Amino acid sequence: MFNDKIQLPIFFSIAVLTIIYFFYKNPTNYQLTDKIVYVSNIFTYEEKDYKKCRVETWNNKTTWEIPRVEKLELLAKNNITSNEGLEDGELRLISAFLYENEVVVTTSRQRTSEFGTTAYCRYFDCNRVEIPGSIYKAFFFPLTSVHCLRKAGASYMSLSLAAQDELPEPIPFTHRLFDKPQYELGVCGGQIYGMDAKWMQITEFVEHHKLIGARMFYFSVFEIDGMTRMILDEYERSGFAEVSMINTEYTNAAMMRHMVQIHECFYRARNHSKWLLNIDHDEYLIPTGQSILSYIRSLGESAAELVFAIRRVAKFNESLQKYKNIQEVSNDIQMANYNLTNEAGYAAPKVMYRPDKVYATLLHWGYGMEPGFKVHAVPRDIAFLNHYRTISRNFLWSEFMAKLIRQKAKFVQETLPSDYLEKLRGNVVRVVGYVFDKHSVKCESIPWVLRFISKPYLDKLKIYCKS
Ligand SMILES: *[C@@H]1O[C@H](CO)[C@@H](O)[C@H](O)[C@H]1NC(C)=O
Ligand SMILES: *[C@@H]1O[C@H](CO)[C@@H](O)[C@H](O)[C@H]1NC(C)=O
Ligand SMILES: *[C@@H]1O[C@H](CO)[C@@H](O)[C@H](O)[C@H]1NC(C)=O
Ligand SMILES: *[C@@H]1O[C@H](CO)[C@@H](O)[C@H](O)[C@H]1NC(C)=O
Ligand SMILES: *[C@@H]1O[C@H](CO)[C@@H](O)[C@H](O)[C@H]1NC(C)=O
Repeated sequence: MFNDKIQLPIFFSIAVLTIIYFFYKNPTNYQLTDKIVYVSNIFTYEEKDYKKCRVETWNNKTTWEIPRVEKLELLAKNNITSNEGLEDGELRLISAFLYENEVVVTTSRQRTSEFGTTAYCRYFDCNRVEIPGSIYKAFFFPLTSVHCLRKAGASYMSLSLAAQDELPEPIPFTHRLFDKPQYELGVCGGQIYGMDAKWMQITEFVEHHKLIGARMFYFSVFEIDGMTRMILDEYERSGFAEVSMINTEYTNAAMMRHMVQIHECFYRARNHSKWLLNIDHDEYLIPTGQSILSYIRSLGESAAELVFAIRRVAKFNESLQKYKNIQEVSNDIQMANYNLTNEAGYAAPKVMYRPDKVYATLLHWGYGMEPGFKVHAVPRDIAFLNHYRTISRNFLWSEFMAKLIRQKAKFVQETLPSDYLEKLRGNVVRVVGYVFDKHSVKCESIPWVLRFISKPYLDKLKIYCKS
C-alpha cells in the first residue's frame, strides 16, 4: 500500500510527533512510591586499568643535548629578550612544539627579573603518567619559553619551577617533525585582545597576504568576540591558520602580552614556515617591484632576515562591527577606502625572518643568527608595509597619527591598483559570505508529510520554516 518513498517521511513524522508529545506531556503531577534506589559505587578509571602505551616510531627518540645550548645560555646570561615583558605572569603553558632534537614549551609567564632561571621539563606518557626518571633541568629562554630534551615515549609535557612543585596540566605536542618546512611564507597575525569585533580586519589581512603568496597564518588570542572567532575557525578549517588560545590569569593587560605572542609565533612557525613575516593584523606587506616570493628566492639561501620600510595610513573609521549584509562588507575594504599616508621609512621597521636561522626574536626583529647568514634592507621600490592606524578612537596607538595630522605633517595620497583591490574585495566577500550570510530553513526543503503533520506543533515552538 505504501511505497518506500512514503514510508520514510511517515517514520520521521512519527518520531517527531513522539518527541513533541513527550515535550508537551512533561508531567507535573508525578506519583511517588516509597522505593529508593541506592547506588553504592561508581567505578572510576584507575591507573591499574590503563592500557600500556604504544610507542610510535616518531616518538621513539631521546636526545641528550639541547641544540645550540651554549648560544642560548650566553644570550640568557646577557639578558637578551629580558626587558620587554611584564614583571609577572603565572606559569601557564601555551604550546609544546616537538622538533627533531628538542621540545620548546611556550608559556604566558614573563618574569624579567628571574630571567634565565631554572625550569624543570616534565614528561608524561599516553596515559598522562609521568615517565619515571625523565625530569630535565632547563632554563627560561627566551623570556617566556623553555627548551627541553626529547624523551622516548612522551606524549604530553609540563613544566615546573622546582622539582617537587605542583604542575600545570600537561599539554600534547604540536608536531614540527618535517624534513623541510611546509610553507614558504607564513605570517604572524599579532595579538588578538579586546572585545571589539575584528572579523572584518582579519579577513582582509589574511586575504591580502594570501594573494601575495602567504599560505599560513599564526594568531595568538587573549580575548575574542564570537564573530572574529568564527572567522578564525574558518581559516583553521581550511588549513590557512593556526590559532593559539592563551588563557592568562588577567582580566586586562592583554596588551602587555606582546612578548608572549611574539615567542609563541616564532616557535610555532619554526620548521613549519620557511619565512615568517612578523607583523600585526593592521599591517600589510605591499610588494610593488616583484612578487615577494621571487624576491626572497633571488636573494639566495644566505638571506635570513629582511627589513621593510613602513608607511602609516590614516584609518578614519572603525571597521564593521556587526554583519548586516554583504554589500556593507564589500564597501569596507580598508585598502580601498584609505589613502592618506606618510612616506615609507625605516624607523621602527618590521621584519620577515627565517625562524630556523635566527636565535631569538626581540620586539620587532631577530637577535643573532647562524654564522654566514645575512640581513637585507628591502628597497622601498621592491616592497614596503602599510600600517593602517585607526585615528577615530582616542586610543594610545592612534595618537601618533592624530599628532602628525594636527602638526600638518606632509602627507601623500597612495592609490593602489583597482584591479588588485577588486580581486581582494571579491575574496573577502566570499569568505565573509560563507561564514555569516545565512538564511532560515526553507519550507520547501522539508518533506511535505513532515511539514503537514508537524506544522501546528512547530508553530507553537516558533521554529517553523520560512517560504
Ligand atoms: C624504538 O627504538 C628501539 C631501539 O632504540 C627499538 O628496539 C624499537 O623497536 C623501537 N620501537 C619503535 C616502535 O620504533
Ligand atoms: C641581567 O639581569 C640581572 C637581573 O636584573 C642582573 O643582575 C645582571 O647583571 C644582568 N646581566 C647583564 C649581563 O646585563
Ligand atoms: C566614515 O564615517 C563617516 C561618518 O561617520 C562616513 O560619512 C564616511 O563615509 C565613512 N567613510 C568610510 C571610508 O567608510
Ligand atoms: C583618496 O581618498 C579620498 C577620500 O576617500 C578621495 O576623495 C580621493 O580621491 C583619494 N585620492 C586618490 C588620489 O585616489
Ligand atoms: C628546524 O629548526 C632547527 C633550529 O633552527 C634547524 O636547525 C633545523 O635545520 C630545522 N629543520 C627543518 C626540517 O626545517
